[in-house]
Amino acid sequence: MSLGLVEKTASPTVTKLGGQIGAEIRGITLSPDLDEASVAFVYNAMLEHKVVFFRKQSLTSAQQEALGARFGTLVSHPTVSSAQGTKHIFELKARKGRAANTWHADMTFMASYPKASILRCIRPSPYGGATLWANTATAYRSLPQPLQDLADKLWAIHTNNEYDHTDLIAERDWEFIQWQANVFAARVFEAKHPVVRVHPETGEKTLLLGQFIKRLVGFNLPDSRALLGILQGHVTRPENTITWHWQAGDVAMWDNRATEHRAIADFGQEERELQRVTLVGDTPRSVDGQQSQQVVNGTPNPVLLLEQTGTWGPRAQD
Ligand SMILES: [Fe+2]
Repeated sequence: MSLGLVEKTASPTVTKLGGQIGAEIRGITLSPDLDEASVAFVYNAMLEHKVVFFRKQSLTSAQQEALGARFGTLVSHPTVSSAQGTKHIFELKARKGRAANTWHADMTFMASYPKASILRCIRPSPYGGATLWANTATAYRSLPQPLQDLADKLWAIHTNNEYDHTDLIAERDWEFIQWQANVFAARVFEAKHPVVRVHPETGEKTLLLGQFIKRLVGFNLPDSRALLGILQGHVTRPENTITWHWQAGDVAMWDNRATEHRAIADFGQEERELQRVTLVGDTPRSVDGQQSQQVVNGTPNPVLLLEQTGTWGPRAQD
């Protein structure tokens, strides 16, 4: 069956771009009408290379949504509204150099966070604005055995409500800080995840870390930060990453269970526009089979409550 596909699609090729992560697929034009075998080809390449790239595509927002649905069930962001006229498109429209410029996997503040994301470049910045991905499976394998043994036992709380505002405060970007508080974290989600999860499809152990981590369970903040710094350092070693310089039309698709990513906010006051869809993921399992849990599920942000009601929580019944 797959032989028929390869003939039909003029032999798609997968070209490795980095030693540990990343490949470009050529010979496939992305469309919601891809045949089953092409969908499987792309998905399997993604599982193997963690992130795959396509140049010179011409998807519309609606086609990107329909294409995403070929690989799984689409899921919207829990707090940020989808782009106008779309059901599930998350808009990354930067002005003033804003970008998701900290290492993270998408939406890990949800217990069942997305298994994959598909990002499409509408308008690249005229310079800069690249995106980096890191392989969290090779990162785990690069740990010395005693550190693997420790990581296997660690759990962490991930939240959408503890963004590091240091840079934004330094730049006096009050508008974006307000957006973080009033939109991104208007409702608070926190999930408890194992630091090492077993990938449900490849069986690999991957490190589940990134920007949304608040702290390690059972550790004080200084110890938590020190340990996370050591582990995260293995994820983001340059040799463990791939950098993609966007052109209009490019599409990247990554395994959100086996990668972290970040943008580089080095495009000054220029504009940069991308759109993303995410696919429903399973609930992670630790090395010993325990599942992640949603520990806070969309409660109103206490700081907003304080502003609106003058109390930190629901008013006491008196
Ligand atoms: Fe992201």
